[in-house]
Parts: sequence; structure tokens; C-alpha cells
Amino acid sequence: MSADTLSNLKIQIEKLKKDFDQNQQINADKKLIYLGKKGLFNELSKEIKNVSNENKKVAGQLLNELKTYLQNRLETNSSVDHKNKWVDLTIPGKDQESGHVHPISQAIEEISGIFQKIGFTRVRYPEVDWDHYAFEALNMPADHPARDEWETFFVKVPPNKKMGKVVLTPHTSNGQVREMERLKHQPPIRMINIARCYRRQQDVTHTQMFHQFEGLVVDKGINIQHLKGTLDYFAQEFYGPGTKSRIRPFHFQFTEPSFEVDFSCHICHGTGLIADEHGDKQKCGLCKSGWHEVGGAGMVHPNVLKAGGIDPQEYTGFAFGWGVERTYTLRKGLNIDDIRYFYSGETRFLAQF
Ligand code: PHE
Repeated sequence: MSADTLSNLKIQIEKLKKDFDQNQQINADKKLIYLGKKGLFNELSKEIKNVSNENKKVAGQLLNELKTYLQNRLETNSSVDHKNKWVDLTIPGKDQESGHVHPISQAIEEISGIFQKIGFTRVRYPEVDWDHYAFEALNMPADHPARDEWETFFVKVPPNKKMGKVVLTPHTSNGQVREMERLKHQPPIRMINIARCYRRQQDVTHTQMFHQFEGLVVDKGINIQHLKGTLDYFAQEFYGPGTKSRIRPFHFQFTEPSFEVDFSCHICHGTGLIADEHGDKQKCGLCKSGWHEVGGAGMVHPNVLKAGGIDPQEYTGFAFGWGVERTYTLRKGLNIDDIRYFYSGETRFLAQF
């Protein structure tokens, strides 16, 4: 048996050597792993007690040789590292991966900049808010069917007598009455409120969390032309010269009259048609109609002004609001067919912006 134990030890010594030679770690770490107090060498040395007395001497010699082998290698390796290794200084350095601001945050900065240039104040209101601000004060009493359109998430906390339930804000319109209160019911108001919103929907054009930006202007003599002028201004600033806006009649409880807002398509310039390679007109593949619908707008409903403590006889206002993600993906050349990518954490997608 003793001869077996010795040959077994020999095998293990060879194994350890091979393992050592293949180990790519830096020398300091290797020293610890192989020659440290609890290292593999000491571990293996314990085997000597199983070797018969007549073979102990040989076993001891073999272990000593192993130790010298490991020590020598560690030394020569480190000296090679420093002195003899040829270094090619012309090889380009390794690219450092650097992060950057998320594309939607970039879009938010850009949008707020565009409105700040014409005197809007950027604000942010709670993203978990009272039903009062999200619906009730916007002319939508508790059982109003129009609320269904907002696919709202409710938070499981006891309701407040005056303010009602707690919701994850389904739109940034909750900022309208809050802004009237912040300014102590004293127009002029020129607000741009950009915040996260939440709705129970998820598909290629919807994420449960998304962002909206909401404009609100209240002053004496504000009319639809001011709204239209502001939309045209935004269209040109964000999508480039020549982009037009269009408003179509719609219904919201908190605006009267209400509109849906479209921007002209940058591919077919609002015509809905593009020439193919033979010069024949074909339907535009991006918009099909010349226009992209982006969101809602309208003249602030008198009841909303009243809820914000502003006299609708004296003041009028307009409001608009829609999604940052949608607005951004309509930009020229982006071609993003699934907005869920934005929140996928997929760096190969995000790195492109
Ligand atoms: N809050 C509306 C929505 O989310 C949009 C809107 C904002 C409409 C302001 C009119 C005025 O659909």
C-alpha cells in the first residue's frame, strides 16, 4: 500500500504543477493560493503522514522540490513581467465603456428647453397623487365613465375624505390644479410639467410606465390661436423646420373645446404620398395619412379653473399633454418599432443614442 500512496502523491504533485502553470491569475494571488498558510502546497504536504516510513524520505524530497518549483516560477514570472516582457506601445488602448444619459431623459431635457425658451416654467408634481388632482378637480366626478380611458392603477391605502383615493398618476394633467394652487390662484401661468405616468397597458406602443409633458397657460385673453401657435412652434423646434401641427375636434372632460393634436409626417411632408423609383405616388409607409397623432389639447374647462380658484369670467387658458416616448420615436431616422426597448435595460439598444 505504501508504494501506492507514494505514487499517488507523485500524481498529485504533477497535477498541482500543471494546475499552477495554467493558472492565469496575478502572482500575488497565485502565491496565496499555492504557497499560503492554507494554500494547496501545505494541504498536499499533509499527505506525508499516510506514506510508509521507508518512503517518507523520498516523499519529503518530492515535496521540497515542488515547493522550490513553485517559488522559482513565482519569482521568474514576476521578473519577466517587469523586465523582459516586450510591450508594443503602438497597440490602441482598450475601449472604456462609458454610459450616458438615457434617451428619454435626453428628450425630456430637450422638450423642457424648447418650452423654457418661450417663458414656460418647468415643474414636477407627485407621480403618486390624490384622485382629486388626477380626476375630480378635472371635471371628472367619481363615477364618471370618461375615467375608464385612463386605465388607472389605484394604491391600496385608506382614502382621504376630501382628496379621495390614491392613484399612480395616469396623466400629467394632475399638475394643472396643483400649479394653480402653487401660484396662489394668480395667473399668468405658463407651466410645463414633465413626469412619469402609469396605465394598465403594455404592447409595442405602450409601456405601463411612461412619461408625459403637459403645458398649461392661463391668462387674460388666451385663445385657441395661442394654443395653435405654441403647437406649431414646438413641432418646428423638435421635428425641424417645415413641420406643421393640426388640431381635430375631440372630447376631454377638462377642456372645452377639446382637440387631438397631429404633427405632419417628415417623410411625406403631410401629403401621405411618396414617389417610388418610377416616380409613381405610393402611400407613405410611416404615417399612411400624412399626419401622426400625438396627444390631446384644448381650452381649459371653466370648472377646472374654478377648482384651481381662478375666475373663469376673467381668465381663460389652454392645455395640452402627451407622451414623451411617442413624441420622441416619431423623430426622423429613429425607426423604433417597439417602445418597450427603452426600458428593457438592453445596452446594445441604448448605446445608439
Ligand atoms: N391628459 C390627457 C391624456 O392623457 C391629454 C390632455 C392634456 C388633453 C391636456 C387635454 C389637455 O390623454
